[in-house]
Amino acid sequence: MTVIDEVYQEDRPTQPAGHPRILSLANQKGGVGKTTTAINLGTALAAIGERVLVIDLDPQGNASTGLGIDRRNRGCSTYDVLIGEAPLREAVVATAVPRLHIAPSTMDLSGLELELGTTPGRAFRLRDAIAGLNNNTSPDADYTYVLIDCPPSLNLLTVNAMAASDAILVPLQCEFFALEGLSQLLQTVEQVRSTLNPNLSIHGIVLTMFDSRNNLSNQVVADVRQFMGSKVYNTMIPRNVRISEAPSYGKPVLVYDLKCVGSEAYLKLATEVIQRERELRAD
Ligand SMILES: Nc1ncnc2c1ncn2[C@@H]1O[C@H](COP(=O)(O)OP(=O)(O)OP(=O)(O)O)[C@@H](O)[C@H]1O
Ligand SMILES: [Mg+2]
Repeated sequence: MTVIDEVYQEDRPTQPAGHPRILSLANQKGGVGKTTTAINLGTALAAIGERVLVIDLDPQGNASTGLGIDRRNRGCSTYDVLIGEAPLREAVVATAVPRLHIAPSTMDLSGLELELGTTPGRAFRLRDAIAGLNNNTSPDADYTYVLIDCPPSLNLLTVNAMAASDAILVPLQCEFFALEGLSQLLQTVEQVRSTLNPNLSIHGIVLTMFDSRNNLSNQVVADVRQFMGSKVYNTMIPRNVRISEAPSYGKPVLVYDLKCVGSEAYLKLATEVIQRERELRAD
């Protein structure tokens, strides 16, 4: 039995109607797999029955491109939403994956911090936009998961994501400097918790680009597991060329090559995320 069969045999829990679970992919370090995880965890969750919205909060717009949304088709974007000119629903577009939608971003987003200046409530723009997301639709159209793809910095955009989220999911690349910067990220989460969002938690840390043949990769895994304990997901995302090829076709790796080890890993991660959700609800 493959991991995909196992996934399909799971029962399909969804969040209570009207309340999506909001998770941010955050790490101020660049190129660690935030966007890849937003795209492919989103696809895997949708594949097992969840209704997922990816919010692209990075001016680079890589999540939008990776999900096949051409720059010309980004009439309304997360910039328009955060500046207060459009409700979130208006920015949402469907992807080729059933039950997976995206609110795309454009380069305009890079000017947002300057434009908002010291406007009161500027950190809650995204939270307020998401609050209206599920209200005007029938329950079967409501999202059960919102995944926010953050830019590689701890700027106003990332703060908006943290203020809007239930939890943070931190991709960590299996390389020498993996732990560098993690304490700064954890400190920021702590700060947001004590000021903007007391409910914010760390959902988990996902190790990415793991290469079992590489001693360094194995050492990094051991260090991170020792430092962060059970916060680290059991599932590791292997370094896999299919994962890196998929975005140039505007496809998630699960659509590009469902059978590759990268796809299997993201499906496993999705079941682990759902399992953690179950445990949280049972507490
Ligand atoms: N498991 C993997 N195997 C191989 N390549 C990967 C894997 N995960 C990510 N990559 C590649 O590594 C690069 C960085 O990944 P990604 O864009 O997801 O990181 P990021 O954290 O979102 O970057 P940024 O900080 O710039 O937003 C991309 O070219 C991506 O295709
Ligand atoms: Mg990215």
